[in-house]
Parts: sequence; C-alpha cells; structure tokens
Amino acid sequence: MRSTFLRPANLAWKAASSYESATDSVPLLILPQPVGTGAKAVDGARSMDERSGDSLAAGGAEPVSAIDVRLVDVTKRFGTQVTAVDRIDLEVTDGEFFSLLGPSGCGKTTTLRMIGGFEQPTSGLIELQGQDVTWLPPYKRNVNTVFQDYALFPHLTIFENVAFGLRRKKTGGAEIRRRAAEMLELVELRGYDGRKPGQISGGQAQRVALARALINRPAVLLLDEPLGALDLKLRKQMQLELKRIQQEVGITFIYVTHDQDEAMTMSDRIAVMHRGRFEQLGRPQDLYERPRTSFVAGFLGVSNLMTGRIDGADGAYAIVRLDASTALRLPREGVSDGASVQLGVRPEKIRLVGEGSATADLNVLSGRVRDASYTGVSTQYLVDIPGGSKMTVYEQNTARAAAAGLRRKGDMVGLAWSPADTFVVQPGRTEPAPSRYQEAPDVRRT
Ligand SMILES: Nc1ncnc2c1ncn2[C@@H]1O[C@H](COP(=O)(O)OP(=O)(O)OP(=O)(O)O)[C@@H](O)[C@H]1O
Ligand SMILES: [Mg+2]
Repeated sequence: MRSTFLRPANLAWKAASSYESATDSVPLLILPQPVGTGAKAVDGARSMDERSGDSLAAGGAEPVSAIDVRLVDVTKRFGTQVTAVDRIDLEVTDGEFFSLLGPSGCGKTTTLRMIGGFEQPTSGLIELQGQDVTWLPPYKRNVNTVFQDYALFPHLTIFENVAFGLRRKKTGGAEIRRRAAEMLELVELRGYDGRKPGQISGGQAQRVALARALINRPAVLLLDEPLGALDLKLRKQMQLELKRIQQEVGITFIYVTHDQDEAMTMSDRIAVMHRGRFEQLGRPQDLYERPRTSFVAGFLGVSNLMTGRIDGADGAYAIVRLDASTALRLPREGVSDGASVQLGVRPEKIRLVGEGSATADLNVLSGRVRDASYTGVSTQYLVDIPGGSKMTVYEQNTARAAAAGLRRKGDMVGLAWSPADTFVVQPGRTEPAPSRYQEAPDVRRT
C-alpha cells in the first residue's frame, strides 16, 4: 500500500489551486504548522488526507490523486547521437520531496524540463495528477520551476517580484497584498518588501525566487540546482530552509542536484541517475545502506568493494570466499551458491581491532595501515589488505578509540564488521546507453 501524507495543508493548498482557475477568488487555506516532522500515515491507518478528502468531496471538489507526477517509459534523444534520458519510469507521490541525483550530463535537467513542458519526450508518457500532459505547453501545466540563476526582476521590488505571478493573472489588489505578505512570511523575509534584488544577499534572493514560484500554488515545484550559486555554509542553511518550507506548504518538490549530501539531507526519496537511466530509486537510507550497483555505492559516500565467490551458507548468511584463506559472511538474500559477487562495506561500519582479538560473529580481515589522518570527528585510515586492495576505515574519536591509541603507518590491524553491514552490488553499467530510433508504441498525443 502506498503511504499517504499527514498534511492537511497539502490538500487545502491544492484544492484552492484547482478552484483558482475557475474563480481566482477562493480564500487561501494554507500554512498551518506541519503535523509532526515529515509525518506519514502508517499502512492501514485512516489518514488525514482521506478524512479531509471526504469533506472536500462533500464540497464538490475532486479528491487529489496520490500520484502527482508519473513518467512512463520516457526517452529523450537529441539528434541521433545523444540519448539524454533512456526509458525511465517514475511515480512521485503527492507531497513528496523527490530528488534526481547524478553526475554532470546524466540527464537530470532534461528529465525536469520534460516534466515542466520545456522539452518534449521522444517517446513515452508524462502525467501530472492523473492527466496526460505529454504534449501540453508549460503554461498549461500546474507546475512551476526554480532555476539555478533565479533571475529576479532587478527593477522590481521584492514585493513586486513575489507578486508577479498574481499580477499577471489580474488577481485583485487586496488579495495580492495578503498572499505576497504570506509568502514573504513563509520564506522569512518580512520587512524586505520594499528592497530591490540588488539590495539583498544571495540566500535571500534564493528565497524570493522560491516565494515567487510558490505564490501561484503549483501542484508541483521543480527545482534545478537552485542552491548552486551559494557558498557551502549558506547552502547547508538553505537546505534545511527548503525542507522546512516544503513541509509547511506540503506540495510536491522535484529537486535536481549532483550533490549527494544535499539530496540525502532533504529528500523523502532519491533517484540516482547514470547515463540517462535510474540506477536505483529509494529512500536515502536504503540507497546508502543497500546500494544495488557499484555506481550507486561509489556515488553515495565511500564504499570498500571486494570480489569473491559464494561458497555455502551459515544460517542466515551466505559465505563468500575472497581467496583460499579468507572467507566473509553476508546476508543470504539474493545471492546463489557458486556465483561470483562484488561485495561492499561502508568505512564507518568497520572497527579496528587488535590482531587476533575475539571477533566471533564478525567479518574480519587483517591488514597494514598505509595512512592515518585525524579529522577531528573521526580518524580516517587507509589499510592495505592481502591481494592488493585498500580499505578505508572511519573510526569515531570516542573514548574507546582514544584508549586504543592512534594507529600508525605500518601497524598491523584487524578490520572487523558485522556480516549484516555487508552488501552485494551488481557491476555498474559501463556500456553506452543504447539508442532507440523507433517511437514506443504507447505514445499518446493530445
Ligand atoms: N539541447 C540539447 N542538444 C543536444 N544535447 C543535449 C541538449 N541538452 C542536453 N543535451 C545532452 O544531454 C545529456 C543530458 O543533459 P542534462 O542537461 O540533462 O544533464 P544534467 O544531468 O542536468 O547535467 P548537469 O549536472 O551538468 O546539469 C548531456 O549529454 C547533454 O550534453
Ligand atoms: Mg543540469
């Protein structure tokens, strides 16, 4: 069962927005405090959305679709050489903070531009709130976009920049004043109304851009690397701000970034993109703890990868043999006896132990310290293990680690970690994305 979101603000916002096109005068029902932090209904529970859905239905409004954005087998090619997006499927749920994460050129912006209507897919289908919008122009879609160079109007005041969308729709003056003031309050810029964009900081300008994009109450907000121009500290602050604002308004955000920390900090779910495809899609903790490909394991954080062959089982664990004298254990799920596998473990899961200390139930390798660097919060070790591989280990600087003392270059150590923290990955896709020149049969044109 798909979880729904305990966000009454969410539904009220969208209900107001769907009325708006007809009357443009519906009272604004937004911005109560969020219910809990990112609270979601548990399976089987009757959610707040369902309840408010009842009352809205009684008032004649359509219940809101649980899927805000759906992409079905979407491909985008530029010419005959470039397949920017290669047969992706995606469902983004109402109220979700969803991120597209991947290296430069992997197809993030192209995907976002297709959702916004600035680019049309070569084949496939795009739906917004259940409606096929594949061939609709941007202005007919209930989405808004915040770009990296947020391009405020320099000659207009902050207030007029925020009010711009409503002015264009010829909304009444009193309503514009009220809604623009609410937006400035939301982004914590009350009192800045009269300034010009040249008289505020980069972080403040970014918040004005956000207020300007939200004032029209889009069902979905698309954000393409919106924090790219800010320095690291401000970026970190703005990440938390963006998450707070998204939770307050409860609307769906689709966020593009190549920065894994940024995606992990803010997102409910992330799609890791590589060469136009989704390598893996899931919650941040699932992607980190259980990366399914070597690309994801390497792109999100640091991974120690080893290769071995499955050689029998031990209870819940499969035994994997690295060489004649070294065997490790890993969760049995999804591996078959005799298979050659690539396995991994994250650096912070590994403990350095004395050689030969009691480590029943743990995976243990022995190695020699190649490098140790103290970084304050932790000490990072690089350890050579037999067979020529290197393992990275992060050891937290706790009292226990201090008592054991800093290991030095050349020291022999044991590396110990729980078999449960061991994961198996598929080799990454190294072949170029295949080109498909014929249209998929399911393309619908409206
Ligand atoms: N209009 C275009 N014509 C031809 N090729 C294009 C066009 N737009 C994008 N591409 C190509 O499509 C691929 C995906 O581009 P896209 O802009 O989606 O990447 P991205 O993931 O957003 O990268 P970045 O992180 O650098 O912004 C790239 O190889 C790019 O060169
Ligand atoms: Mg881009």
